[in-house]
Amino acid sequence: MKKVNFLSSVLLLMQFTMTHFSDAHLQATFVDRYKDVGELWRTQMEIEDVTTTAERLWKETSDLYRQLHAFVRHRLLLRYGPSIVQDKGPVPVHLLGGLWGETWSGILDILQPSEITSSQTNVPTVNEFYKTAERFFSSMDLFNMTSTFWRKSMLTAPSDGRLVDCHGSAYDIGKEDDYRIRMCTQLNMEGLHRVFHEMGHVQYYMAYRFQPVIFRSGATSALHEALGETMAESALSPDCMRRQNISLIPESVSEDDISLLLRHALKKIAFLPWALVVDKWRYDVFSGAISPGEMNTRWWKLREKFQGVKPPVLRTEKDFDPGSKYHIANNIPYLRYYFSTFLQYQLLEDLCSEVPSEANKALHRCCLFGSTQAGHKLKTLMSLGSSLPWPRVASQFFRHGKLTAAPLLAYFRPLKEWLIEENRKTGATVGWFLSLN
Ligand SMILES: *[C@@H]1O[C@H](CO)[C@@H](O)[C@H](O)[C@H]1NC(C)=O
Ligand SMILES: *[C@@H]1O[C@H](CO)[C@@H](O)[C@H](O)[C@H]1NC(C)=O
Ligand SMILES: [Zn+2]
Repeated sequence: MKKVNFLSSVLLLMQFTMTHFSDAHLQATFVDRYKDVGELWRTQMEIEDVTTTAERLWKETSDLYRQLHAFVRHRLLLRYGPSIVQDKGPVPVHLLGGLWGETWSGILDILQPSEITSSQTNVPTVNEFYKTAERFFSSMDLFNMTSTFWRKSMLTAPSDGRLVDCHGSAYDIGKEDDYRIRMCTQLNMEGLHRVFHEMGHVQYYMAYRFQPVIFRSGATSALHEALGETMAESALSPDCMRRQNISLIPESVSEDDISLLLRHALKKIAFLPWALVVDKWRYDVFSGAISPGEMNTRWWKLREKFQGVKPPVLRTEKDFDPGSKYHIANNIPYLRYYFSTFLQYQLLEDLCSEVPSEANKALHRCCLFGSTQAGHKLKTLMSLGSSLPWPRVASQFFRHGKLTAAPLLAYFRPLKEWLIEENRKTGATVGWFLSLN
């Protein structure tokens, strides 16, 4: 998920150790410049009015989220009964197929039971996954991985039983052709998607390698996160997989538009309020608006309000549930993933409009495989690194000129109409009551 520019971290560290002699001094300088860590993080993203922008985007998408939430809750109610799922209440989060209700892809089988067929022909290898992603980027005239990449990356957990951090990460070592991915790659659709995500970071590293060290980072961290996602979205749509001759996926999913969009929505739309809550909570912790004695309570209040979920069992201040999240335990900013989700669809729309054969297709059917026009546009954008401020890059390279939910909403419009109709037919309630707030 995260990306690390090793060299610029070292440089920053050197700057700090050279100019700040003691912790107290460091703290004082730091406090002078930024009110708190939240403000520092918001500044680093270069996105104007981070909080207002985040709220605006949520306003535009929360309707779609509420329809999806209603649909999913109704299916869970049918499955588990009213003693477990209340038809007007928040959803017990442990029923959503993951530890945090971060994405709901894990319960696809409950939501469309008859649609899934398992037609596994051959068992893919990890190497095939990475070669597939590399071939996709290369077909757009982007970059092949380097020999160092293949030699030094850790693509599976080591066989000698050493304990390693398996969370997917891409690294720019800052030395010649040394780019690496560290990930315990899963051999399923989600795993392949993540390979595209991490390789997207590496593409960005390679494109801006000629910039001075200080500019070797994303125009905004949200764009760094968006690239691989856009590519995965395009590459792993059914027609596009056929064009690449990808036959190495153990599961096959129904190809009608609604099933496809639902599958994506469980990943992308379910994710939005979660991504919003993670840093909403941290900004308030950093600013002191959430005091140490109410951290867990406020965490669940936010979760209930935005995600419409509740904990499986009673939680108290003796628990510290936020600490279970990798990015919170490791102090990595998270709102970039929220903005990145909107940016992915902006990027997809803009790139697809460059390709005559794809421009008039529905966005979720657009295949960028082999499209060098789109590849060149992307390469130009990536090679800038962070040498221009994000707002200028946005207005220069993106049709909308700023962050907007419009392409995401266009992408999911057929699904939203379907969900509204489906919820009306089944009498599913839309929205949820709050019990904690
Ligand atoms: C990447 O490698 C493939 C196969 O080895 C080669 O055909 C292709 O031209 C390379 N692409 C680029 C952009 O160098
Ligand atoms: C896919 O397979 C067909 C038939 O074997 C072949 O003609 C085509 O070139 C292949 N395409 C790619 C992208 O490998
Ligand atoms: Zn990432």
